[in-house]
Amino acid sequence: MIKAPRGTKDILQDEIYLYQYVEDKFHKICRQHNYTEIRTPIFEDANLFIRSIGETSDIVKKEMYTFLDKKGRHLALRPEGTAPIIRAYLENLIYNQQELYKVYYISPMFRYDRPQQGRYRQFHQLGVEAVGSSSPVIDAEVIKLSCEFLDDLKIKYILNLNSVGCPICRPDYGEEIKNFLKDKLINLCDDCKVRYEKNPLRIFDCKVEECKNILRDIPEIFPHLCKECSDHFNVVQNYLKILNINYLLNKNLVRGLDYYTRTTYEIMPAVESGSQSALLGGGRYDNLVEDLGGSKTPAVGMSAGEERIILHLQKDIIKTKDEIVLFIVTLGEEAEKFALRHLFELRSKGIKVEINSFKKSLKSQLKYADKISARYVLIIGENEIRKNVFILRDMYSSIQREITLSELREGKFCEI
Ligand code: HAM
Repeated sequence: MIKAPRGTKDILQDEIYLYQYVEDKFHKICRQHNYTEIRTPIFEDANLFIRSIGETSDIVKKEMYTFLDKKGRHLALRPEGTAPIIRAYLENLIYNQQELYKVYYISPMFRYDRPQQGRYRQFHQLGVEAVGSSSPVIDAEVIKLSCEFLDDLKIKYILNLNSVGCPICRPDYGEEIKNFLKDKLINLCDDCKVRYEKNPLRIFDCKVEECKNILRDIPEIFPHLCKECSDHFNVVQNYLKILNINYLLNKNLVRGLDYYTRTTYEIMPAVESGSQSALLGGGRYDNLVEDLGGSKTPAVGMSAGEERIILHLQKDIIKTKDEIVLFIVTLGEEAEKFALRHLFELRSKGIKVEINSFKKSLKSQLKYADKISARYVLIIGENEIRKNVFILRDMYSSIQREITLSELREGKFCEI
């Protein structure tokens, strides 16, 4: 039998309501912060990601799903949402229309990661991007939005914050990392030896325990930040304090994508559960627009992993499925026609109505209504139609009573 590819899954009815719950909250919170939704293609020119995320990043080196289409174009299933949004921003000349462009997305992403709890090859990100302002106000806004989202979902978390500086001050820090690691190089993994040469900050991405131990004593970036980056970071921290947002300074937080400048942050779950990975991450990327062919335009954003959020939801506080309010038992074709003509309209009043579609006898229909957890059952037969009086049964209390068509239309069955 053909199965879903490794690292992907079908989201079935016992889980989809959690996705809908999380997404509804995200739509709401984004709109409140004046972000509008954007949808970009699932696949893009592979170069978009190579140029933005960086050739030495794990995402580009190991995790990207790339393919040639029938015309030999080198395409990639998107591994993240930021670069496509900047591509769309440039391609649609949005910079001519809007000084500050604030968008959000809820989209599937693809990474050839090693599947485990909370890590998939197709997963969903909920993200925002604010393009056009270098003000720390927007850094604070994006971080606040992230925290509010998790607060709203009642997830406990820890915010890690750092600044990765800019192309002016970062090379200096890169040199210090190299100095620090010079005599430890032999103990680093092969990937880190390449990172050491090509892009020393990428060493922080390493998941090998021995490398992580070596990195524990690595010098901090803060003394290397230029005045502009340092001032910016101080203001961001002040604004977080004004907003009552607690955070930990984390000198090792450089994030796995090359486009970041200045503020970077990651939010981890406060309660450990299985594999320990970030719920969300983001930061500033003031050079990406320029790197992709636009003019210098600062930007900041974040994205959350929906599957990881769902893993940490307190499922018991969420109403599971909407119950079926009214199940219509039909005894014969006349009853079916009557229901179509007079009772389907109840749905437009927001009442969830289901109708018998295959069971024949009254007994088997009642059994089915019970199985699908219908709250009320309405029994329609030829006699009932003639008399315009129907039998309504409350499935919780098993109490039955008679009801007329007009009472039904007025929703009076709920008062049984
Ligand atoms: P990222 O840290 O690569 O950042 O991914 C963001 C979030 O996506 C992670 O914190 C995690 O929750 C989730 N995630 C990543 N990989 C997987 C996976 N294999 N399975 C399940 N969840 C996963 C970005 O993608 C940036 N674009 C964020 C950003 C937006 N920065 C600025 N704007």
